[in-house]
Amino acid sequence: MPLPNPLPIPSLIQKLQWIVDPVQYLKKAAKKYPDIFTADIVGYGCPVVFVNHPQVIREVFINDRKKFAALGEANNVFEPLIGNTSTIMLDGDRHKQRRQLLMPPFHGERMRAYGSLIYNITEKVFSQLPLNKSFSARNVVQEISLLVILEAVFGLHEGKRYCALKQLLALMMDVFKSPLTSSFLLVPFLQKDLGLWSPWGRFLHQRQRIDQLLYAEIRERREQSDPNRIDILSLLMSAKDETGNSMTDQELRDELITLLLAGYETTSTAIAWALYWIHYKPEIREKLLQELHTLGDYPDPMNIVRLPYLTNVINETLRIYPVLMATLPRVVQEPVELLGHPIEPGTVIVGGIYLTHRRESLYPNPEEFQPERFLDRQFSPYEYMPFGAGVRRCIGEALAVFEMKLVLATILSGYQLELESSQPEKAQRRGVTLAPANAVKMVIKGRRVRQKSLIPMATTTAP
Ligand code: HEM
Repeated sequence: MPLPNPLPIPSLIQKLQWIVDPVQYLKKAAKKYPDIFTADIVGYGCPVVFVNHPQVIREVFINDRKKFAALGEANNVFEPLIGNTSTIMLDGDRHKQRRQLLMPPFHGERMRAYGSLIYNITEKVFSQLPLNKSFSARNVVQEISLLVILEAVFGLHEGKRYCALKQLLALMMDVFKSPLTSSFLLVPFLQKDLGLWSPWGRFLHQRQRIDQLLYAEIRERREQSDPNRIDILSLLMSAKDETGNSMTDQELRDELITLLLAGYETTSTAIAWALYWIHYKPEIREKLLQELHTLGDYPDPMNIVRLPYLTNVINETLRIYPVLMATLPRVVQEPVELLGHPIEPGTVIVGGIYLTHRRESLYPNPEEFQPERFLDRQFSPYEYMPFGAGVRRCIGEALAVFEMKLVLATILSGYQLELESSQPEKAQRRGVTLAPANAVKMVIKGRRVRQKSLIPMATTTAP
């Protein structure tokens, strides 16, 4: 049975375009077939159907345990990174149970505990930057995000293991920094271990060293358990499923790497985009500063999180360039029809996040950054979906949004920044994310005088 609306472009060209310029690839595809099309691209092991019409997205994502199953094997491309016992590799009941263990530590209310940690890390990293000297905002917020994950998720603060992991994790992620090297992740054929001089060999070596450090940390934590710890690893180690079982060392290792990989590039890329838009449109920065001012000297992190204009700016940042262009795949389990196209079992479908967010009928002038559009109307979870939908909806959404808001509030209220160039940023592939091609070059023009710290100091260990 033919797949719906296959793109009339030779397979090799499609694959190359998807790696080198995914935005142009998606735009061209949607011009021809705005609602549904079949792409012949890398990363899925077969052609994949993009659905970009909210009604169809709804139909797929409310049925993604049964008719359009979120199968773990459809995510095989990530296995070398995250192992085979990670949430992303599970499906059915095992996936459901694992999410039940993972979700409580990421609940919105729990985030309050990480407020001062995020503030302190941002302040520490930013206070080391020189005045009037260009820096890459993406690299700086990447460091912030990595430290947040190491401290809030892994529960590591200082010491040899913390420093070694920090360095190795950043190096491992750097393998995928350009569109070309991203293909090592997307094309299994290129994953050849030719020793330390080859990119894949280097990646494997780094992964092995990271594993050694993580297993050592897990072993030590088991030996010296501390009920006062509130980092996510500690919470996961003490969590038990319905049958009373807790997670094994391998499962903990796979989840830690998953949370790192799923959380670190994504959140830092989103913050970098936000910094870009806020400074590209100075009127937005002024409005944000006025809003932050209304909170007074000791704002509670939860009050920052509730600021309406800041929320709209974050929403619009994740609309215009959603960090992930598509959801994880869903696999058709029984014959179905979507928008009049019969589709057979085994067909792989993804929700086209980028293209849905660019639908003119939902978002007039979709190329324009307009936070106000979130004031004017509410969007359904199938019209606005930067964190996906259904059974695989992002576990780290609350942490990501909390971190984005606190990091931005800390930077804006402490530093006067400018973009180095007035040229618009273009979006470019970085691994599986859509990142600013020029890494958002900025300059600190001055430090704002702050009477008191934005958020009172505290540690991540409960008193
Ligand atoms: C701005 C930042 C982020 C964005 C845009 C984002 C986006 C997404 C998207 C689109 C999915 C796929 C959902 C689907 O297929 O329906 C996903 C899944 C996931 N995300 Fe995030 N994410 C972000 C941050 C985080 C953070 C901070 C963490 C954890 C520390 C995290 C952990 C996960 C996990 C574990 C999954 C897989 C869930 C599953 O397989 O059941 N993400 N994310």
